[in-house]
Parts: sequence; structure tokens; C-alpha cells
Amino acid sequence: MKTVTLPSGEKIPALGQGTWFMGEDSGRRKEEIATLRRGVDIGLGLIDTAEMYGDGRSEELVGEAIVGRRNDVFLVSKVYPHNASREGVLAACERSLRRLKTDRIDLYLLHWRGGVPFSETVSGFETLQRAGKIRYWGVSNLDLGDMLELAAVPGGGQVATNQLLYNLTRRGIEFDLLPWCEKHRLPVMAYSPIEQARLLRHAGLMHLAAELGQTPSQLSLAWVLRRDGVVAIPKTSNSRHLEDNVRAVETTVTPQIEAELDKLFPPPKRPVPLEML
Ligand SMILES: NC(=O)c1ccc[n+]([C@@H]2O[C@H](COP(=O)([O-])OP(=O)(O)OC[C@H]3O[C@@H](n4cnc5c(N)ncnc54)[C@H](OP(=O)(O)O)[C@@H]3O)[C@@H](O)[C@H]2O)c1
Repeated sequence: MKTVTLPSGEKIPALGQGTWFMGEDSGRRKEEIATLRRGVDIGLGLIDTAEMYGDGRSEELVGEAIVGRRNDVFLVSKVYPHNASREGVLAACERSLRRLKTDRIDLYLLHWRGGVPFSETVSGFETLQRAGKIRYWGVSNLDLGDMLELAAVPGGGQVATNQLLYNLTRRGIEFDLLPWCEKHRLPVMAYSPIEQARLLRHAGLMHLAAELGQTPSQLSLAWVLRRDGVVAIPKTSNSRHLEDNVRAVETTVTPQIEAELDKLFPPPKRPVPLEML
């Protein structure tokens, strides 16, 4: 499995598994668990969840999926902004740990910026780190200005990732935020990397992928993974889709293919306010 290096030097899988909307339909539970387990078995050991997803049901499902294989998984979860006060973050983490049936979260993210000052949230994260309840902390949906503010608070420089909306149709971060993260060796975790499947119906992408003997999902994920510091976390509950997505890791996006994709999905020419889903 291709890897991405955290600021600590630890390597994590470049292709992981998202879990938004998992755990919400009891009829799909078995398939969702089986797909997550299969994903871990074939190297997609990074699993992304959040206390928000299904009001904790996604975390519960992940907890069930990783029983007996916790050490093979790099577990990412997220705290709601309204729970991100110094004390709130401790309580939210305890609840997540209970649902995940584990004693630690590998990477704990502030889901988006809310009203709590960064200094408080960072202080809560540091307490959790000292207690061994989380190994690293990071953020999500923070634009460049927010990152600069975060970097200026005590301990803010210890941020381990920024999880962002990034795919062929959402390239705004390439203008300034992504280069800034790369310069600071801060990995970016690309969420909705196939635009919640909408990208797969793009006629131009379908045509180019067919010409290359690839699937649209394989090509669009390989494109996200072409940059060294970027992790992609597609969500699938379908084992056929999983096998399709994992092929992205072996797929090379040559400069010619990249140029074709730039024609279909032009890169930004000026700053674009951060988009989120
Ligand atoms: N930090 C944030 O604010 C934030 C926001 C959004 C998402 N996320 C995280 O990022 C993860 C991924 O984003 P996402 O779930 O929004 O969207 P996504 O991964 O871009 O797309 C997921 C959708 O694509 C389908 N799919 C996946 N692989 C496919 C394939 N090979 N062929 C056809 N369809 C395929 C899935 O259906 P099947 O299950 O049927 O395959 C699902 O409907 C989330 O699950 C979540 O963990 C974070």
C-alpha cells in the first residue's frame, strides 16, 4: 500500500475508508461490516468516522468491524465544533471510545471550525494525548486563514492533518491551501474524493477512463493520490466497488493523462473560498 507520512514520521495508508452514512440502515449492516473488514485485509487500514455520522451509529459499526484487528487499523474520528471546548472534547472523546470499543483513537479531528477558540480545543487534545486516549490530533474544513490562526496558538503547530473536500470537481485548495500544507509537510486527507459518486457519471471522465481501460473511480482516485502528501478516503459499502477503488493505488497518472484531466476539470486560477459538504 502506498503511504503518506505524518509530521511525526509515522506512515499511514494513502487510501483509506470513509464511513459517512454507514450504520444507518440495519439491512446493510452486514455488508458494511464485511466491506470494512475486507478493506483492512487488503491494506486500507485507515478508517475515518465521526461522532456526527448517524449520531454515533457509524462509530458503533466501525467498533464492531475492527474487533480483533484493532492493531491493523489507523482509526480517525472527529469531534463536533460545539463539543470542542477544553472539557467538552474530553467527554466527547470518551463517548467515541465507548462506541468504537477501543482505548485509543489514532487521529482525532476538529470536524469544522465553530465558536470555541482554537487554544481551548488544542489544550483539550493535548490532555487526551497525555492520557493516551488519542495519538495525534488534527482539523477538518479549515481554510488557509484558519490554519494560520491555528498555527499561532500554543501547541497549534502539532496539527497532524487537515481533512478537506478534494476531488476533480473541487480543486480550489490547489491554489493556496494545499501548497501551504505541502510546504509545512502537513498531510491532507481528501474527503468525498469521488464527489459522492456524482463524478463517476461525468461524460468526459467516463470517456477518458474507458480509453485508458480504467474505471472512472479508479482514475479519479489515482488522480487524488498523485500528490505525495494526500490521503483519499472514499466510502463504499460494496465489495465490488472496494476492489475497483483499490486499483487506484497501482494506477499511474502520467503527465499526458493529467493534462487531459486538466482540460476536463480546470485547476483554479485565483483563490477560491474553501468548499465543504
Ligand atoms: N470532514 C468532513 O467534513 C467530511 C465530509 C464528507 C465526508 N467525509 C469523510 O469522507 C468519506 C468519503 O466521502 P463521501 O462518503 O462523502 O463520498 P465519496 O467517498 O466521494 O463517495 C461515496 C459514494 O460513492 C459510492 N461509491 C464508492 N466507490 C464506488 C465505486 N467504485 N463505484 C460506484 N460507486 C462508488 C458509494 O456507494 P457504495 O457504498 O454503494 O459503494 C457512495 O454512495 C466519508 O464517508 C467520510 O468518512 C468527511
